[in-house]
Order: sequence, then C-alpha cells, then structure tokens
Amino acid sequence: MENSKRPKALIIIFGATGDLAKRKLFPSIFHLCQHRKMCGDFAVVGIGRRPWSNDEFRDTVEHSVKESYSPEQDLSHFTANFYYQSLDVTDSGSYQELNQLVVDLEKRYQTEGNRMFYLAMAPQFFGVIANNLANNGLKDSPGWTRLVIEKPFGHDLESAQILNDEIRAAFNEDQIYRIDHYLGKEMVQNIEVIRFANGIFEHLWNNRFIANIQVTSSESIGVEERARYYDVSGATRDMAQNHMLQMIALLAMEPPINLTPDEIRSEKVKVLRALRLIEEDEVDDFFVRGQYGGGHINDKTVPAYRDEAYELNDSNTETYVAGKVMIDNYRWAGVPFYFRTGKRMATKATKLVIEFKDIPMNLYYKHEDDRHPNLLYINIHPDEGITLYLNAKKTGVGSQAEPVKLSYNSAGVDGMNTPEAYEKLILDCMLGDATNFTHWDEVALTWRYIDRVLKIWENRQPDFPNYESGSMGPKAADELLEKDGFHWWQIRD
Ligand code: BG6
Repeated sequence: MENSKRPKALIIIFGATGDLAKRKLFPSIFHLCQHRKMCGDFAVVGIGRRPWSNDEFRDTVEHSVKESYSPEQDLSHFTANFYYQSLDVTDSGSYQELNQLVVDLEKRYQTEGNRMFYLAMAPQFFGVIANNLANNGLKDSPGWTRLVIEKPFGHDLESAQILNDEIRAAFNEDQIYRIDHYLGKEMVQNIEVIRFANGIFEHLWNNRFIANIQVTSSESIGVEERARYYDVSGATRDMAQNHMLQMIALLAMEPPINLTPDEIRSEKVKVLRALRLIEEDEVDDFFVRGQYGGGHINDKTVPAYRDEAYELNDSNTETYVAGKVMIDNYRWAGVPFYFRTGKRMATKATKLVIEFKDIPMNLYYKHEDDRHPNLLYINIHPDEGITLYLNAKKTGVGSQAEPVKLSYNSAGVDGMNTPEAYEKLILDCMLGDATNFTHWDEVALTWRYIDRVLKIWENRQPDFPNYESGSMGPKAADELLEKDGFHWWQIRD
C-alpha cells in the first residue's frame, strides 16, 4: 500500500475479552499488519471489565492469531502494540483514565489523533458508550473519530430507532460504521461489478428476461454456544433483516452514477423503499419459518434445537426462514426474489442464482422436463466465483440440447486466500470508506419490512420442529416456489 494511503490510527476495542475480538478482530488486524505492511501504523487498546494486565491481553491476542493463522514467526513485535484498559463502560468517571492512555499512545505512535472506536459488545451498551466517549473528550481529537458497531442493531424498528437516537446524540451519521460482515465478503462486493461491468448481464437484468432470483445462505452448524442471544433473535432477525436483504438490494439496485458511498447507498435505499410489505392474510404465501428437529449431518447425529440447551426446551424461535420478496418498481415488477437461510441445513453455502426466462420456442428438447433455463450462479461461499449454465448440443447424433457449465473460480486464479471480511471492513473504516457499511436508512427500511412479518407470526403458534437437521428446510419452503412454477436450484455443484 502506498505510504500516502496508509491510514494511521488508534483502534479502541470495547469488548476486547469477548468472542468476536478473539475469533475475528485480532486475526484480521494481524493480517492487515502482515499483508498490507501496516504494522507500526496503529496501536490497539483493548477494553474489558476484567482486571487484565497488558501482558495477559497480549497473550490472548497471540493465542487467537495462532488459532486462526498458525504463523511461524514470533508474534511479540505484533502484540507489543496492544494495550489493555480495564473499564466499567457504564461509569462515566473511568473514561478519564482511558483518555489519558489514548493521548499518551497517540504521541508514541504518531497516529495523528485518528481514533476508531470498535463496539464489539451487546447492543444495550452502544448508547452509553457513545455518550461517555463524547462527554469525556474522547471524541475531541485533531484527527478523525469513527464508531464501528456490530449487529444486532435493535430488535425491531422501534428499538433500532431508540438505539440510533442514542448514538446520534454523540456521533454524526458519517462517523458511524454499522457492520454487516456480508458486505465485506469478496463475492458480495463482486455483485455490482458482475452486473455493471458486463453488458451481457446488465442488459438482461430486469423483469423482461429474469424469471426469478434465489438467495440461499445455509449453515450446517446449530445454535452452538449462543442460545441466549439466538433464542430472542431467531433466523429472521439474525440473518434476513440484514445479510439477506442487503444481498437482495445489491442484486436489484440501479447502477449508481458513480462509486461514492452516498450514490451506492442511495440506490440501495430506493430498492428497500420498493419492498412490498406483507399483509396479515398473505404471510403464508410469502414467508415460511422453521425450526430444526434432530437428524444427521456428515454422518453425525445431531440434536433438535429444543434439546440443545435446557432453556430452549419449549422454544418457538425459528432457526430457518424463507421468503418471497417482491420489489415494486419498474425494473422488477413481477419478479420474485426468493431467499432462504437456516441452521443445521445439509451444507454450509451461500449462493445467489439468477434464473433467466426461457426462450419462447425451444426446438432442442424432447420433453418439457428436459428444459434447462440459463442460470447464473454467484458463488459466495465456500467457492468464490461465478458459474453460468448455457445449453449446447449433446455430443453425437441428433440435435438435442444439454446444459453446459462455464465456471470462474476466483480463489483458484491467484491462489490467494480471500481476505477475511473483517479485515477489509476494518481497513475501509480506517480509510473513511463507508460503502460497505449500512446506513441508518437501510437499517430502518429493512426493519420496517421484517417487522410486519414478525408481528404477524407473534400471534400465531408455529408447528415446530418442522425440518430435519441435515435437510434443506421445511417442505413449505419448496411449495413457496412450486406455487409459482419454480423450484430451488441446487446449491451443491
Ligand atoms: C452472523 C449470524 O451474522 O452470520 C450467525 O449472527 C451466522 O448466526 C453468521 O452464523 C453466518 O456468517 P457466515 O459468514 O459464516 O455466512
């Protein structure tokens, strides 16, 4: 990275003893340091309640980096840039000490007063921390100050609005970086490029030529250690309100007039404003929820959701959600965007499938069932790339068509690992590029849409469990497409 573009900053992580910091943030910072040659350009202050010393903190950082990357070199040069401050985040008085540490480190590291406050904590603390930072002078620096916030951003539109008001009392919208880690994924960022840099796709990218779009993000893991969070959230809040709708917005947006964050966001916001809200009597035609029962995944027997932890034994939380999203605008009128996401499904994969309309008269098939529409797969995980299904002549006598597959696998091209989403997002934030973070308008509009469905479900008793672990979800999710004459395209090649 050129020197002029190398951001210098102090990264202050609230929740530094927590899981996210260990699993994602420390390894990402290490990667930034190694691969972008940014060591020495920043220092990290970790904040937690525990009375740790710098050394204890550095050991944890070292351990977490080793778990993720197993580097061979000695990490002490790297971890020496990590400092620990024990702090009760709700106690305004204790921020003075933090202020002093920050000022001292800024002198030592010459970080020009640039401060990134990363809140890797439960959302109930976001407001109080933001205000304590502002009231104790931590925002008053000669450089930039930015606030990075993890999800969940609220539980519904109302709580998200309250949370936003609290944060906005201390920070401006352009200082707030709301993380949706899907927006940091290489192939999610590639959606726009694939669309807007290829005439062969973009000219066809509308309701005249596209039959439907399918977004799948399936996970084979269960609720794991997160029962307390997950059981009040469920798949719809955990995945649909953010990751699924964000991917749909990228698939559906108009080309922006340029690549500035404001222009891109404003096109996404227009899509979200056009989402057709679900009415009470039509929820079953548009949404399906599910909860996993026991089953088998990779030859292992796994328990039902209700048996995963004692407090889940009569839970009605959904671990799966599928939806048919209609976007009422000129480009998309009439085209269903189907999505599905859930835990304990057959496989871990995230894929987008664009199904093109078939040609009016296809001479090359004997039976209707042999027809194979053109499909574009955008593969986000585990493979990263695109696959295009075309029809070509079956080799040999006769003139029958069969589907052939053109694949581009981005991980295979240069043998590089895709940088972790978090690494890119941390760097973007340091560079002041908010493109891949969610603006409040997007958060508000996605909650408005999702809230409707959740409110209707709240008053209806689900019949759970309704899908087996290791399957692709409840049968009703297949019917959601079958009613429209479609089916889910398989996500395993
Ligand atoms: C998170 C959810 O946002 O995304 C998790 O809270 C989920 O429940 C995770 O497991 C999935 O992310 P990825 O990148 O593994 O698809």
